[in-house]
Amino acid sequence: MNKNNSLQFICAETGKYIHSHVEDNSAQLIYLDPPFFKQNIIKLYNKNTKNIYSFSDKWNSLEHYLIFIKDILIKCRAKLSNHGLLFLQCDTSASHHLRLLMDDVLGEKYFVNEIIWCYKRWSNSASRLLESHQNIFVYSKTKEYKFNRIMLDYSPTTNIDQILQARERDENGVVKYKKNKNNLPIMVTEKRGVPLRDVWEIPFLNPKAKERNGYPTQKPIELMDRIIKISCSENDFILDPFCGSGSMGIAAYINNCKYLGIDKNNDAIELCNKRKIDYHISKSAVKDGNYTGFNNLDNEIKTFITSINALPVERNKGLDGIYSSSEGLIGIRFQRTNESVSEVIALMKKAAKEKPITKKIIIKTHDSDLFEIIPDDVFILESLNYKLTKIIKPIITKSVGRYGV
Ligand SMILES: C[S@@+](CC[C@H](N)C(=O)[O-])C[C@H]1O[C@@H](n2cnc3c(N)ncnc32)[C@H](O)[C@@H]1O
Repeated sequence: MNKNNSLQFICAETGKYIHSHVEDNSAQLIYLDPPFFKQNIIKLYNKNTKNIYSFSDKWNSLEHYLIFIKDILIKCRAKLSNHGLLFLQCDTSASHHLRLLMDDVLGEKYFVNEIIWCYKRWSNSASRLLESHQNIFVYSKTKEYKFNRIMLDYSPTTNIDQILQARERDENGVVKYKKNKNNLPIMVTEKRGVPLRDVWEIPFLNPKAKERNGYPTQKPIELMDRIIKISCSENDFILDPFCGSGSMGIAAYINNCKYLGIDKNNDAIELCNKRKIDYHISKSAVKDGNYTGFNNLDNEIKTFITSINALPVERNKGLDGIYSSSEGLIGIRFQRTNESVSEVIALMKKAAKEKPITKKIIIKTHDSDLFEIIPDDVFILESLNYKLTKIIKPIITKSVGRYGV
């Protein structure tokens, strides 16, 4: 996609411009990141350019502010496609009023979600709790809106039975584990993952991040990207009526979407056009599904399990990983230093009970049993380290992984 044709940043008063230049029902995503009613001039000094970027968030009254936003919402509703979604970002300065306003303009029944974007902050707050979130209200225009379901990996604290047991609703709508006629749980072979939640932990851009461009209220591209992933497909049109430094524009470009950003601040538009040529993205270490604090699975084992596209299993004595194959599930387990192969077989047997595990793979890491009885469904693979130690002793053993994966 040609960046110049698909990305457009315009310096204008947003309400007037949208009304006269944007086609009705054309936008798949409208992302509104207006002034939040801070009753202040929002400014930030940019060390590199020695520039101060600023815009006014001062209003005669709350009423004036709400009249302004209402006018924008009415105009945006006309431009939103019947399958589109409108996101409005705000904070506690006026979120309670804005939600009611959106109910009024877009219709209470078209409320889809309230997303909480949360992040860490290190500042003092003596008399109240430290604010560390913003709100994003999501509304549609009809009930036929496009919504791309995003599934994440299970947290390692999730019990393997919870992942594999099929579920159904009973006559009262209560979700229960599905049972067969012998009252045994029915297993699924496909891992489904967990749907993306409405609380998103994405770091605020720190002052030293490469992505930081010096514009106050700049939003992380990662946050913009997630909004696009939920609501758009390639080539969809995104309208950003308060584009500021253009974070949504860059995310639109990455996702091959068409984009129009409007801002009345000329400095902001200049910045957007510079960013169009050269942009940086900060990738956060904190991601949904990345719960390293709870892990107990050795990193080497985990690396191996994920490298073969299997699901790592935490906190289970008999399984380190599960692989979904066309013949059913395959259990994987590494032999630990203090275990014999027979002990591993016994632990795996117990863990696999009542699960549709058709094969079990043991990665053997050292000699242990004098005599091993290997059941038909168990396959022994020797780890690389184990193989090497049988040939070259003992120097090479230090340079390969503990489990030789
Ligand atoms: C919260 S900032 C947007 C930040 C942006 N999302 C980013 O990532 O950099 C709000 C922007 O709205 C612009 N703005 C405020 N009133 C406007 C209006 N009536 N027309 C156009 N832009 C306006 C301000 O200049 C400011 O850049």
